[in-house]
Amino acid sequence: HSLTRPRSFLDLSDHSGEELRRILNLATSLKARRVKGVAPSERPLAGKYLGMVFDKPSTRTRVSFDIAMRELGGETIMLTGAEMQLGRGETIADTARVLARFLDAIMVRILSHPDLMELARYGNLPVINGLTKQSHPCQVMADVLTFEEHLGPIEGRTVAWSGDANNVLTSWVHAAARLGFAINVATPASFAPSEELVSWAKANGAKMNLTRDAYEAVAGADAVITDCWVSMGDADEDQRRAALAPYQVDSKLMRAAAKHAVFMHCLPAHRGEEVTEDVIDGPQSVVFDEAENRLHAQKGVLCWCLAPGQF
Ligand code: CP
Ligand code: NVA
Repeated sequence: HSLTRPRSFLDLSDHSGEELRRILNLATSLKARRVKGVAPSERPLAGKYLGMVFDKPSTRTRVSFDIAMRELGGETIMLTGAEMQLGRGETIADTARVLARFLDAIMVRILSHPDLMELARYGNLPVINGLTKQSHPCQVMADVLTFEEHLGPIEGRTVAWSGDANNVLTSWVHAAARLGFAINVATPASFAPSEELVSWAKANGAKMNLTRDAYEAVAGADAVITDCWVSMGDADEDQRRAALAPYQVDSKLMRAAAKHAVFMHCLPAHRGEEVTEDVIDGPQSVVFDEAENRLHAQKGVLCWCLAPGQF
């Protein structure tokens, strides 16, 4: 066992604002080089292997991590929970210890956050959170990058969330505390942020304002953000659709935000549920920039995790 802990990326709350900023800056410079068509002179992750464990479906996370790794000179191995011995009951701890003997890092999409933590605890290799029921930190790194490309520094600004208090919102709240912006959150009582998240936000100085009123949340905000009403692993579909209907982002709600406000959504989207077609396909929507920025943000994360001497 090495004496230094591997650099994992499990939650934005584990990192200081400066550290997140360093990763974002790295992402920006890697993106600029790629956009200019400049072939990177060095391949910082040459000889490194990333295992990608998917226990749940994915389009963006899977493709963006794969391309990110390859463009940085590294290799990837795709693994699915059902095809691994995990599916037949091999423990997380044993799986982690074995994978650490072969791989340089793993990216994991698994609903159970405690299972993710256990992998990181036993693995002695960097573990990257590719979405759990609790959080989606890589998504929000890409989202902050996107916000700043369109509107400049996020520090001191205000974003608004209207909808289900899910994993993506949790990572937004972590980012708000670490990067110094305000987040207004409108949810129904039945799908509101957990007590745990609310007290974390208080203890960590996040400017989080909770309301039941979507219009109050978005008033003057620089970004209006939402996500699906039924996340992976959610059972109570009908109750969710009924309770969340007043939180749909439509053009009337967008008009209550700042004139320059962007509309954000991590995708996949459900037109006619959490957002109307005219908003997600309209001029304020930056959803495909968010999707592209997964690639660039995750390059920053991968370099930070896998080449700690260099970055
Ligand atoms: N936003 C996101 O994580 O998309 P996928 O589920 O397609 O990876
Ligand atoms: N909140 C959604 C995000 C999907 C990328 C889910 O967990 O299913």
